[in-house]
Amino acid sequence: MMLKLLHYFPFIGLVVAENGLQAWLRYAPLPQGHNARLPSSIIALNSSTNSPVNTAGQELQKGIQGIFGNRLSISSIGKAPSSAVIGTVAQFQEAFGSSPVHNQLEEDGFWLSVNGSTVQILGQNERGALYGAFEYLSMLAQGNFSNVEYATNPAAPVRWINSWDNMDGSITRGFGGNSIFFADGHVVSNLTRAAEYARLLSSIRVNAVVVNDVNANFTTINPENIQGVGRIADVFRPYGVQLGLSLDFASPMELGNLSTYDPLDPGVIAFWGDITQQIYARIPDFAGYLVKADSEGTPGPLVYNRTLADGANLFANVIKPFGGIVMYRAFVYNQLPDEGDWKADRANAAVDFFHPLDGQFDDNVIIQIKYGPIDFQVREPASPLFANLLETNTAIELQVAQEYLGQQCHLVYLPPLWRTILDFDLRVQNQSSFVRDVITGERFKRPLGGSAAVVNVGLNDTWLGSHLAMSNLYAYGRLAWDWTSDSEMILQDWTRLTFGLDKTVIDTITQMSMASWPAYENYSGNLGEQTLNDILYTHFGPNPQTLDNTVWGQWTRADHASIGMDRTVSNGTGFSGQYPPEVAEMFEDIETTPDNLLLWFHHVNYTQMLKSGKTVIQHFYDAHYEGAETANNFVAMWQSLKGKIDDERFEDVLFRQVFQAGHAIVWRDSILNFYHNISGIPDGAGRVGHHPFRIEAESMELSGYQRYVVSPFEAASNAIAIVTLTNSTTGTATTVLNFTSGVYDLAVNYFDLYGGNSSYQVLLNQKMIGQWVGNIVDIGKLGHTPSIYLDGHSATRITFPQVPIKKGDTLKIVGQANGVEPAPLDYVVLLPAGVID
Ligand code: GCU
Repeated sequence: MMLKLLHYFPFIGLVVAENGLQAWLRYAPLPQGHNARLPSSIIALNSSTNSPVNTAGQELQKGIQGIFGNRLSISSIGKAPSSAVIGTVAQFQEAFGSSPVHNQLEEDGFWLSVNGSTVQILGQNERGALYGAFEYLSMLAQGNFSNVEYATNPAAPVRWINSWDNMDGSITRGFGGNSIFFADGHVVSNLTRAAEYARLLSSIRVNAVVVNDVNANFTTINPENIQGVGRIADVFRPYGVQLGLSLDFASPMELGNLSTYDPLDPGVIAFWGDITQQIYARIPDFAGYLVKADSEGTPGPLVYNRTLADGANLFANVIKPFGGIVMYRAFVYNQLPDEGDWKADRANAAVDFFHPLDGQFDDNVIIQIKYGPIDFQVREPASPLFANLLETNTAIELQVAQEYLGQQCHLVYLPPLWRTILDFDLRVQNQSSFVRDVITGERFKRPLGGSAAVVNVGLNDTWLGSHLAMSNLYAYGRLAWDWTSDSEMILQDWTRLTFGLDKTVIDTITQMSMASWPAYENYSGNLGEQTLNDILYTHFGPNPQTLDNTVWGQWTRADHASIGMDRTVSNGTGFSGQYPPEVAEMFEDIETTPDNLLLWFHHVNYTQMLKSGKTVIQHFYDAHYEGAETANNFVAMWQSLKGKIDDERFEDVLFRQVFQAGHAIVWRDSILNFYHNISGIPDGAGRVGHHPFRIEAESMELSGYQRYVVSPFEAASNAIAIVTLTNSTTGTATTVLNFTSGVYDLAVNYFDLYGGNSSYQVLLNQKMIGQWVGNIVDIGKLGHTPSIYLDGHSATRITFPQVPIKKGDTLKIVGQANGVEPAPLDYVVLLPAGVID
């Protein structure tokens, strides 16, 4: 793709309240004074209602009207000197006898020529033409009026989204409201949001959506629901977005009343043939199937001692005549490994299962591989399976849903993480073998390949629950088109489109977002030990103990002296040997393993020296303090944008940043309390376990409150909180402040449980200085998976800024219990300017 020449002009503030529904397709008016030369009419070479070219014409009209206020006419024939012509290359040739495009385009590709007011947008197919129209509009909306002329093609044919939406309307790992597709076992009647979603996806060149959860329910393919998903496909179609479905492998039994779901059984084959026919009868452009089989308890071919290739080829055969494909997930592992076995390793599973089958999958099967060998962790090495399937199509599975990455309540801009995987050189046969070139099919000359991203958009106006999280969705599409695109430039395009052209806004959001993944890694799990959240419960807040002593195999093997998984061939699980020799050698040797994956590959003492010159444990301490500080700085950075962004979105993001700042401290303290306790090694900088500005709630004078020992202990400051005596009474906690007189930020750490909305008041010398209700999780304001316990998920901070305090003042907190929530309090902290604790 050619470099864009950007001509920006000064931005004059324009802040109209917005709820986020338009995402990056706002077409907000540009300020006066620009020098745009616009076409005077639109010629869309196909005017039939459902055609993407027709959609493109409408979109151009809408966009140009929004940005510039001019309403252009649309026709389907003619040639005006200053018009925007849009269509396929073939349509253009037919209309005008010849075309400027000669063999440069591949499937879905487009040609864009902007020469002042004369614009030509030609797609290899209609979908490509629509992509080109969105690209032109994106330039205009960003104030970029350059002349351009280029052809662009996708890196790979598969640029899919996986929705984990359930038939009952819930979304697995959904943090932005319920499904836009399903409710109560059926497809919803109003599919407006589904159509709006397709529009967003088309603008980022995503070409298919699998609409139901990988843990599929057989009812999705009953006759009524095939008609229902057919309606979804109908609203997707004008946007060039195809529909796909996840399958439940046992459907022949559950839906077809057969006695087996053995993939080689003729009755089973006939059942799937019939289902496939029914689907294509309703949805002729159906994209294909997604299959999660023999994975986390789902049924699959292994039940019948058939191979995973038998399972995949079953669907491949029946769907082939219709031109569909099968995305078969590599997320297959023995979920009951024994931690007592030093050589047991869940990370080995994908290669163990799939490598022996290389070459046995049909050509319309793609093995869909999560980016790392475990499960969407904050840092993983690239899955070695990408280097082990030389005769099989592959795709990478990414997660826009921030399941283990703050659940859209923490800002984490993901492309830099994704790029560590995609840009990793696996050195297959000692030759350059970047993951990105494997999945596009280029490296091993495969006919198919690409990517799928798990995306959890819901009914929330913001789609993902968080305005800023939308940059991840936008960037996914942009990267799936071109994996070498720059993460920061994509982010800046998104920011201009989402928040306007103010330079401070762009710079600030860029700075925050680019710092966000490193910050989250710093406070959530370092050196390749994975995200230390509670893998047995919410996957949200910290709970490092849950990684070990479980059958889930996400072990850290932390004991009082040492930590890390020994994945070497010489002494450990042998995982490093799954990579090609050059890479295997690097990871086998502690000296050549990068610090950021040290604990992924090696089991070492906490006193092991890193390449950075710090010990492992001191790195933990420093990184967690650094990460929490960065997250706290985001608040002031965001606040500096007040007035430059509409209040509605400004306040919404501010709320989340304030939450993240508090929760980052919860993370920091939980993880550090845990390792400090288990290792007994003090923090060289004296911070861990030393909080001079805090007053523990349990050390205050209590009336109607009692001490409560929190589990896990590290989730509470000093391991203890206070709760009211009953679930309906009031308690007070009082203390005399022994601080130097001055102005402090007064923060209270409490626990916000699901199932209760306690209310609290803070009084200084009997005068109320603040109050709040612990209802954030109950009203779903943040959308993360809630907790009913006092733990690292429910631990929350509220801050009252700039409170004047005199030595000897009396501070009292009154808590009124509600529901299951006994007004739980952890501590109060009085923060002098510049202190984060
Ligand atoms: C994770 C996630 C599950 C999901 C699974 C999958 O383990 O927590 O909810 O079903 O991944 O990708 O299949």
